[in-house]
Amino acid sequence: MSSLDNQKILFCVSGGPAAYQLPELVAALVERNAQVTLLMSADTGNWVSLLLLEKLGANLMVEPATAVNELDRFDTRIILLSDPDDGAGDGTGEPWLKTLLVCLIEAQHDWSGTVCLGSSSELERFLPESQTGLIKETGVLIPPLLGDTRLPKFDPFAIIAAVVRSRAAQLLVGKRVLVTAGPTFEDIDPVRFIGNRSSGKMGYAVAAAAWQAGAEVTLVTGPVARPTPQGVAVIRARSAIDMQAAVDGMIDGQDIYISSAAVADYRPEQTQPHKIKKGSSPTSLSLVANPDLLARVAARPSPPFCVGFAAETEQLEEYARGKLVNKKLQMIAANLVGDADGGFESDQNHLHLYWPGGERQLPRSSKAEQARQLIGAIAERFNDWNGCEETGHGE
Ligand code: CTP
Repeated sequence: MSSLDNQKILFCVSGGPAAYQLPELVAALVERNAQVTLLMSADTGNWVSLLLLEKLGANLMVEPATAVNELDRFDTRIILLSDPDDGAGDGTGEPWLKTLLVCLIEAQHDWSGTVCLGSSSELERFLPESQTGLIKETGVLIPPLLGDTRLPKFDPFAIIAAVVRSRAAQLLVGKRVLVTAGPTFEDIDPVRFIGNRSSGKMGYAVAAAAWQAGAEVTLVTGPVARPTPQGVAVIRARSAIDMQAAVDGMIDGQDIYISSAAVADYRPEQTQPHKIKKGSSPTSLSLVANPDLLARVAARPSPPFCVGFAAETEQLEEYARGKLVNKKLQMIAANLVGDADGGFESDQNHLHLYWPGGERQLPRSSKAEQARQLIGAIAERFNDWNGCEETGHGE
């Protein structure tokens, strides 16, 4: 998971039932090396142990006026929009939080670097209508996991992703990115399928990194059980044909297509409607070729910037460059699989990037870090390619 090394976070909370999750959230941020200052209302201590929060490593601050003067000192602000009157509170926290929000918007005119935790209706209660749209555009609003409840619970991973984004280089602002991830399952009958070992980790990390770089991201995912990355719209697919339908439905207007899915090259010629019984069928399986989703996208009349992946067990550069040329891609990210430390279920990866006329090797690191560097390389190449395309000299 990403490190928030020394990122200075002002975490603003008033009292109210939502405060119960503060120790977990503070611990998650501090564990990743963030410096957390908790700005609290006078009654926060009635809802959660201040001693515990301090022991977990948070600096405690109860003087809103000082914080308002020092807003610049922080890289990121997290604001828990909890409503103290929802429980037995006396409501003293809320006006204070409203004042802070007004000061914030006066100081910086947009909501960049601000992560609000709460439902849309809570946001509307705390802010004038003119600001609620702006916060969704320039800041981040993270709703509770179960919608509007009296005891909201927030996903710490979503918060961490949003905090990373608040300081990440915004290399893809205004760009639409479509990512595919995971394996495809090609059904033989209702209980059996042909699949592969792709875990989807790399593709999910790429989608998360593209969102952190400011892009509007859609992830088409094969059947893997992974949490939805914060900020990313997810479409689920099972087979290559399903995935193709999802990609076809989303591809118009995309700037960048990143194809990290391990799409099965073949599917059974027929999927049997009932479970095949032992001894009732021939022992061989007849297969037909699946479409190549990536090559189809790259062959469109005005294709997006197309990035492929190549997982190889040998001759990495030769095979990867072959795919770059044959599929008419702008970039390919290749890695060796089949050894113990890379590929498939591993948390680490070691990508070699190739593009027409260039290459870059990324040092071995976590898939999150590889994804961040891949997005950096794509943003650089995209700008050159886009410039050429606009003047009619595309690669
Ligand atoms: N790909 C795709 N549709 C397919 C097969 C592959 O979109 N039916 C994409 C993958 O998502 C990847 C790239 O093409 O980005 C290369 O996939 P890979 O499986 O490495 O290569 P193949 O073209 O299938 O060739 P081979 O299996 O022979 O290595």
